[in-house]
Amino acid sequence: MTFKKITDVDLKNKRVLIRDDLNTPLKKGEISSEARIEAALPSIKLALEANAAVMIMSHLGRPTEGEFEEKFSLAPVAKKLSDALGREVPLIRHWIDGVKIKPGQIVLLENTRFHVGEKENDDKLAQKMAALCDVYVNDAFATAHRKEVSTYGVAKYAPVACAGILMSRELEALSQVMKNPKRPLVAIIGGAKVSTKLSLLSSIAQMVDYLIVGGGIANTFLAAAGHPVGKSLYEDDLLDKAEQLATMAETLGVHVPLPTDVVVATSLSSKAEAYIQPVDQVADDEKILDIGPDTCEMFGEIIRKARTILWNGPLGAFEIDQFSKGTEYLARLIAESSAYSVAGGGDTIAAIEKYGLAKDISYISTGGGAFLTYLEGATLPAVAALEARN
Ligand code: 3PG
Repeated sequence: MTFKKITDVDLKNKRVLIRDDLNTPLKKGEISSEARIEAALPSIKLALEANAAVMIMSHLGRPTEGEFEEKFSLAPVAKKLSDALGREVPLIRHWIDGVKIKPGQIVLLENTRFHVGEKENDDKLAQKMAALCDVYVNDAFATAHRKEVSTYGVAKYAPVACAGILMSRELEALSQVMKNPKRPLVAIIGGAKVSTKLSLLSSIAQMVDYLIVGGGIANTFLAAAGHPVGKSLYEDDLLDKAEQLATMAETLGVHVPLPTDVVVATSLSSKAEAYIQPVDQVADDEKILDIGPDTCEMFGEIIRKARTILWNGPLGAFEIDQFSKGTEYLARLIAESSAYSVAGGGDTIAAIEKYGLAKDISYISTGGGAFLTYLEGATLPAVAALEARN
């Protein structure tokens, strides 16, 4: 990957337009995770220290283009950003035709997705956006899989286009796993559905030594291997695919260990009674909601041997205590491990935060879709746009 980095560019007194991903989760109008705001700070501070005129832009949610809606406003983000920087960051509602700003000042530009043409990567909008700045910085790794004006089109027309500190860090961390990992390389891919992670599973199976599957994905693999899964979440129409993946992995010498015991209940509820069952004795009315203790031990042995670990997706319904033990057990082992560990995805980060393990994971990605797209081996449009300008 060759692109210009923010640290290679002279920002002094320049108009610097930074695309961040400040698409933060909101609960009743309050930001519930500041992780993406914190991750954006190093590039912003660097630009301010260089006395640049700093314009920050981001999307938030998925508004209808051309329609302002308060619930998609970046106002709560402007407040948090002001707190984090210890100075006021004004939110500019109308900005595409010009931004009044002096060197040393900083503003946040209202949601990029309020502009008609943003999502379709409209060329005229890209030219207008680029005209706002001397230097365009893309630091929005988490939106790098989107080919939008603010993530892609603008890079073509801005006088200078470069990657921010976060973008570079994310790509370095992920390429350490993809390009030359220390082995054994263990991937833990959990989550509800095989269908949403099909290409991920198939590309991961070609690079790892062990592929541990969890959640609904594991249930589909169990069903494909002929085990009863009762009322568990699984995808009947993907049994063939799961079987093909297991066969492909076997041919490549990749181990895909399946659970030998599981935690079941008749309903997914905090009041449900949980039982441990051998994997071949799941009853018709039971749902598999976590891995059992023998499986924890078996997976644990693999994780203890790992020198690189990639984690995306929980092993069970970890939000409910009686189904959280498998995810917690493996999360703690990953945190204790001296292997290089990379984790990403909303649920995975929620689990890591729930157990207070964030500081013990080597790298936590801010990306969800972008993280998966990169691991699938696909090109990230935002990165391609920066490479084209190198
Ligand atoms: C994300 O949260 O994954 C990114 O901000 C991208 O958001 P989008 O899926 O709405 O494009």
